[in-house]
Amino acid sequence: MKIAIPKERRADESRVAASPDTVKKFVQLGFEVVVESGAGIGSAYVDQAYRDAGASIAEGEQAALSGADIVLKVQRPLTAEDGNDELAMMKPGAVLIAHLAALQNKAQAEAFATAGITAFAMELLPRITRAQSMDILSSQSNLAGYKAVVEAANAFGKAFPMMMTAAGTIAPARVLVMGAGVAGLQAIATAKRMGAVVHAFDVRPAVKEQVESLGGKFVEVDPEATKDAETSGGYAKEMSEDYKRKQAAKIAEHAGKADVIVTTALIPGKPAPVLITEDHVKSMKPGSVIVDLAVEAGGNCPLSEFGKVVVKHGVTLIGHANFPSRLAVDASALFAKNLLNFLSPLVDKETKTLKFNWDDEILKGTCVARDGKVVHPMLGGA
Ligand code: NAI
Repeated sequence: MKIAIPKERRADESRVAASPDTVKKFVQLGFEVVVESGAGIGSAYVDQAYRDAGASIAEGEQAALSGADIVLKVQRPLTAEDGNDELAMMKPGAVLIAHLAALQNKAQAEAFATAGITAFAMELLPRITRAQSMDILSSQSNLAGYKAVVEAANAFGKAFPMMMTAAGTIAPARVLVMGAGVAGLQAIATAKRMGAVVHAFDVRPAVKEQVESLGGKFVEVDPEATKDAETSGGYAKEMSEDYKRKQAAKIAEHAGKADVIVTTALIPGKPAPVLITEDHVKSMKPGSVIVDLAVEAGGNCPLSEFGKVVVKHGVTLIGHANFPSRLAVDASALFAKNLLNFLSPLVDKETKTLKFNWDDEILKGTCVARDGKVVHPMLGGA
């Protein structure tokens, strides 16, 4: 069976869906791997590294995708409207595995079905222990949380750690982290390692202990109201108006003292909650920095702008698109490993083909289209 790795062509994307390491493993599993020339260059993987791992290099996307049984991508395929119909280059019956952003692009699931593609949306992977090694959201959010703090430190005109020098003492930076999930916890850990004093907010009470174990201080808003703030899947729910008012008042106490705010709060299927208002920004010291990791979902701060760094009320707001891609080497290596871990258990050792057990909750949770139909319940499938 042939696995194709095309170059990612969406804006702000430097990652690639296979690394030389995972290519080597796929070859050992009995696959033929074809990598589009230059596909890994944004992640510092040159064609020769893939060749050394056992892949062949194809010139151009059509040549890479032609006849492929499995297509591994980072982002969903481009469409005719984007001026490059990548789906049309795939053969009917091909298996596509990527971050398909399926809930935001429901029409594309229909297109996969019509094209006869079996499509897996890795972002819909159930968060169960067995699936942890396949979880692209975790592997990429972790890196985004780290990079957010590094970008903040770079834009901030002061040092993070306390420094006692002959010329005077520099106070440690105060970092506020909004949302202590995977990205937020890594942001806390990174800011602590750099010497900052860190406070964190979250609506899920389970997070308190995790924040404290990293040396951060957890800010409690309304412990009674948060007892019911977590879904069975471990995600946050949208909070009541009363909670939001109390939370805004607590944030006001902390925002004015913060040098850096990193926001990561998300609610699955909903716009990101607005946590840092314009008044909060106005209360911050000139030269402070906000990194809004939720900017792609509408932002935790209405003043941040997607894909831009802007200065408003003396505060630098960083709204870069695609933070994981800014650490493309590690992000690609982990993403590629996630896909390898997803695919490996599906390989039948005897026949060297893929065997799907459609009762498996991992496959049920991720498959959006197969046998000419949209099948995912969240997309209206059965
Ligand atoms: P996420 O990216 O959906 O949200 C980020 C954080 O924002 C969450 O901690 C959430 O509680 C918080 N948040 C939402 N609304 C907020 C508000 N109004 N104010 C303050 N904070 C708010 O979540 P993420 O990072 O993907 O992780 C969610 C959970 O899933 C965590 O408990 C994590 O430990 C768990 N998880 C489990 C895995 C597994 O078992 N396989 C793998 C990865 C994560």
